[in-house]
Amino acid sequence: MEIFKEIDSLKQRLQKLRSQSKTVGFVPTMGALHQGHMSLVEQANKDNDITVVSIFVNPTQFNNKEDLEKYPRDPDADFALLEKNSCDIVFAPSVEEMYPEPDTRVFSLGKVAEVMEGKYRPGHFNGVCQVVSKLLAIVEPDRAYFGQKDYQQIAVVKAMVRKYMPDFEGEIVSCPIKREADGLALSSRNVHLSPEQRQSALLISKTLFEAKKMSDKGASQKQIREFIKQNIATDANLCLEYVEIADSDTLLPIPGDKPKNAVICITVYDGKTRLIDNILL
Ligand code: PAJ
Repeated sequence: MEIFKEIDSLKQRLQKLRSQSKTVGFVPTMGALHQGHMSLVEQANKDNDITVVSIFVNPTQFNNKEDLEKYPRDPDADFALLEKNSCDIVFAPSVEEMYPEPDTRVFSLGKVAEVMEGKYRPGHFNGVCQVVSKLLAIVEPDRAYFGQKDYQQIAVVKAMVRKYMPDFEGEIVSCPIKREADGLALSSRNVHLSPEQRQSALLISKTLFEAKKMSDKGASQKQIREFIKQNIATDANLCLEYVEIADSDTLLPIPGDKPKNAVICITVYDGKTRLIDNILL
């Protein structure tokens, strides 16, 4: 496995590989890697000759300074896990390398980036678009892999590429959520949970699985939303920030009573840790 910290040397290496007709799969990450990330690496390995993973805690997507400072970082453990999972190339740039000058670009993507996470984390998706557009332009992958754990992020990235990167020829590939055996969605932020909070967090996925069953049996959006609110409120550690039932493509509210082609997106504070999860109906 090769590790690059500089854009120029990475680009040279990738150019060489491309001249040998190798296909390139790319998995952008912020490190603190776990099996959720590895499921994307595995898919990239299956689909491409070469797998590139980036590790970069992108400051511009954090709307909260404490969250950025607290973000878990363990590059050596990340490199070891990537090596074990047959990653070929790691790109781990510094902030100065990625942002030699402040990125002032404003991405205007309409509702898809304004609802849910867009509303509760103002500026977050603009930062994601800044870094993802840079990374895609550097790596020029045939395929870039994103997890449905961050469901809205995929929709935003697809919209950004369509509007702002018309020459990008790669495919944005969407991969399923990886969960612990008991249902908790894997997340770098789970390390912040105490054993008791970890137990409370379980109620989030349990509630979503129940909600899907309700939907399968014909429950209305209102009934599902009420059930989720009440269920989450039963645990004193949990505080619901929002739950939305939205169109799985546009992420806009669904007209009518019953959810169709929908996704339930939920954000819950478990103590001070903000957890997100979702389920397709
Ligand atoms: P990060 O949170 O490190 O996640 C990197 C990728 O791993 C994202 O596409 C995310 O959806 C996926 N992922 C995380 N947990 C997952 C799980 N349990 N199952 C499946 N996929 C999972 O998302 C980001 O970083 C950043 O916003 C980034 C896109 C790298 C831009 O900075």
